[in-house]
Amino acid sequence: MNDTITAPIRDGAIRVHGPEDFAGMRKAGLLAAQCLDMLIPHVQPGVTTGELDDLARAFVLDHGALPACLFYRGYRHTVCTSINHVVCHGIPGPRALREGDIVNIDVTVIVDGWHGDTSRMYGVGKVSPRAKRLVDVTYQSLDLALAAVKPGVRLGDIGHIIQTHVEAQRCSVVQDFCGHGVGQVFHDAPNVLHFGRRGTGEILKPGMFFTIEPMVNLGRKDVKVLSDGWTAVTRDKSLSAQCEHSIGVTETGVEIFTASPAGQFQPPIEV
Ligand code: MF3
Ligand code: CO
Ligand code: CO
Repeated sequence: MNDTITAPIRDGAIRVHGPEDFAGMRKAGLLAAQCLDMLIPHVQPGVTTGELDDLARAFVLDHGALPACLFYRGYRHTVCTSINHVVCHGIPGPRALREGDIVNIDVTVIVDGWHGDTSRMYGVGKVSPRAKRLVDVTYQSLDLALAAVKPGVRLGDIGHIIQTHVEAQRCSVVQDFCGHGVGQVFHDAPNVLHFGRRGTGEILKPGMFFTIEPMVNLGRKDVKVLSDGWTAVTRDKSLSAQCEHSIGVTETGVEIFTASPAGQFQPPIEV
C-alpha cells in the first residue's frame, strides 16, 4: 500500500483530484480492464462462475494488486457474476454457464491504494435477439453518458441521458443501485443516478472521479434482493444487463480509466 496518501482537496462533498491521482487511477483501471479481457475466452458453456472468480482472483494477486470486493462488507469473492435476470451482485459459485446466458462480470482491483471498478456483459454461445438488444441498449446508454461528461455538466444531465435512451428503447432503468465516487475510497460521494432531470444535481468539475454503471431491464424496473443478502434480481424475472466504467473529469471532457487495452469493453455477442 502507498503510505504517502495525500488527502485530496475536497470540493463540497466530492473530492477533486490532481495529476498524480489520475496516474494512480490509470494503473488501477488498466488492471481491472485487463482482468475482464483475460476472462473473455473462459466465458463458455460449462464453466462455473466460481471458476471465473478463481481466475480473476489469481490474475489480480499475480499482478500485485488486491481484489477490493474480497471481504468487503462480508462479501467473499473477487468478482460479481450476474446471470440473466440477476441485476447485480450475483455471487460466484457452482452455477455453470449455459448456452444462451448473458452474464455481467464486475471486478474492482486496488493498485497502490487506487480502486479500478469496471464491468461488462458476456454472451455464452448464441443468445436470443432480445438479450443481444438489451445488451446493446445498455452499452449505448453508457456511451451516450460518457460523451456528455465535461466540466459544467450536472449529474442530473447524465442520469437523464441514460434514462431517455433506455426508455425510448422500451427498456427500464434500475433505480435501486447507482454509480459512485471512486478513487482511494471504493464507494465515495457522489451517488451517480442513472435516471434524473436535466439541470439538477452536482456540477462536474475537473478532477472528479466516479463510476457510471447503468443497470437496464427488458421488463419493469423493480428489483428485489435475495435472502443471501447480495443477489439483486428483477421482480418480473425479465433479463437485466449492466456495464461500468471508472472515469475522471478532465478540463475538456472525460478520461476512461477502465478502457480495454484490447478494445474488448463490449465483447462480441453471437445471436
Ligand atoms: N463492483 C461493484 C460496484 O460496481 C460493487 C460490488 S460490492 C461486492 O460498485 F461486495 F458485492 F462485491
Ligand atoms: Co461500481
Ligand atoms: Co463494479
